[in-house]
Amino acid sequence: MTAPLLKIEHLEVRYGDLIGVADVSLEVPKGSIVALLGSNGAGKTTTLNAIAGIARVSAGTVEFHGENIAGQPAYAIVRKGLALSPEGWRLFAQQSVENNLMLGATPLADRRRIPRLIDRVYSVFPKLAERRNQRAGTMSGGERQMLAVGRALMSEPELLLLDEPSLGLAPAIVDTMYDSFAALHKDGLTILLAEQSVDLALEAADHAYVLQVGRTVLEGPAKAMLDNPDVQRIYLGIE
Ligand SMILES: Nc1ncnc2c1ncn2[C@@H]1O[C@H](COP(=O)(O)OP(=O)(O)O)[C@@H](O)[C@H]1O
Ligand SMILES: [Mg+2]
Repeated sequence: MTAPLLKIEHLEVRYGDLIGVADVSLEVPKGSIVALLGSNGAGKTTTLNAIAGIARVSAGTVEFHGENIAGQPAYAIVRKGLALSPEGWRLFAQQSVENNLMLGATPLADRRRIPRLIDRVYSVFPKLAERRNQRAGTMSGGERQMLAVGRALMSEPELLLLDEPSLGLAPAIVDTMYDSFAALHKDGLTILLAEQSVDLALEAADHAYVLQVGRTVLEGPAKAMLDNPDVQRIYLGIE
């Protein structure tokens, strides 16, 4: 068996005296879609932010291609081929769609790749092409989510980290978005997907991990998790 693309062991992240995540371990094989599930406050965002170098790792390892990247700055991590589409999008509201995409290409060493990458984002999300000159802050939630993903794609990642891409969006928009994720995956992209929406994530994923108060408490093939009563129990916090 080949080594996983991403391997996290005993990750701990502290926010001062508070614990963001206490003990998270997971693996993301190359070419897979892995779901990171858990209710609000379980530690999904903290885990993704720690992988991306936005939250400081206080213990444990984050290996990408076998190299421990924990503690490296965010710009160095994105250059290695990991990109995050953050919860809440974090776009430049006053800037155009295209400028926001260009900002995602900042880490690229080879600037000549930008036109091709922009075209790829526009073919995955045609809505963004229509809106390329519009200010990001005037777009709908669904369009902003697409832009956040598009911006992440501009650094040409091998692993895309998606933080709650369905949050607050209408079901029809969510379906379109997940179709785009499936197309990107088919094209070779590996995806780690944090979602509160269990059914949605398990339909898309190959494998899933469930977090509860900052710890990995369950894992398994996504299809088996769909039928696992423990998943719903942990999720709903039913004892
Ligand atoms: N900036 C922060 N400062 C202090 N505590 C935080 C911060 N961000 C998250 N937390 C805490 O860390 C824990 C995990 O939160 P989070 O990673 O956002 O969970 P999720 O994304 O699963 O909802 C929660 O207890 C939350 O209150
Ligand atoms: Mg979150």
